[in-house]
Amino acid sequence: MGDVSPTIRRLSIPEFTINTPVLVDIYIEAMEYDKAIRDTRVEVWRRNSQNPGFTAVAALMDDQVVGIAYGFNGSPNHWWQHQLRRGLRQQGGPTEEEIQLIQNYFEVAEVHVQPGFQGHGIGRKMMHELLKDNASGHAILSTPEVDGEANPAFSLYRSLGFTDFLRHFKFDGDQRDFAVLITPLPLGER
Ligand SMILES: CC(C)(COP(=O)(O)OP(=O)(O)OC[C@H]1O[C@@H](n2cnc3c(N)ncnc32)[C@H](O)[C@@H]1OP(=O)(O)O)[C@@H](O)C(=O)NCCC(=O)NCCS
Repeated sequence: MGDVSPTIRRLSIPEFTINTPVLVDIYIEAMEYDKAIRDTRVEVWRRNSQNPGFTAVAALMDDQVVGIAYGFNGSPNHWWQHQLRRGLRQQGGPTEEEIQLIQNYFEVAEVHVQPGFQGHGIGRKMMHELLKDNASGHAILSTPEVDGEANPAFSLYRSLGFTDFLRHFKFDGDQRDFAVLITPLPLGER
């Protein structure tokens, strides 16, 4: 595959909720998860679309969805922020700066490109569209730790300016280590 020119565009909440099963399939394939999680994830993603600040971006090739990215405003009522606060306490925080940061951020919840379409700039374009004109001061996301940060996700986030917020963090209910990364908004140009 040479240059690919997908259409990158925002999805309205109805478009997102109608198409959630197809979008979750991209996530399951990209992350190599078991298909058995499909229905629960569809439910969670649809619930996420009700959060304030919800923004979703899809990548389309010939009307086929090949990528999805979405997020929403962070909130002290969200499980995820409770987890971040626990992580900060574990490392001796939170500092004043960290307290400020987690009062005004956009959570990038998911970014996935269908295998076969990865490595052609689609993830980068979706991230730019997702975070464009965002009113939050920062964007925060998590990604599974990998040796030497040697995967497309880490490379993409680093090149967009994301730096360490928490490392080797274990979310409740997940055995894996995660990196939680943060960047000021707007994203730097590249
Ligand atoms: C992570 C992901 C969303 C990135 O999207 P993508 O379209 O493949 O990435 P892009 O082509 O936009 O590349 C962005 C950067 O990632 C890096 N990258 C891309 N493919 C790579 C590869 N195969 N190996 C290492 N780095 C790679 C490069 O640094 C690239 O920067 P460049 O444009 O300057 O070359 C996508 O690869 C994916 O869905 N992966 C599996 C699921 C996943 O890990 N999701 C994120 C979980 S937090």
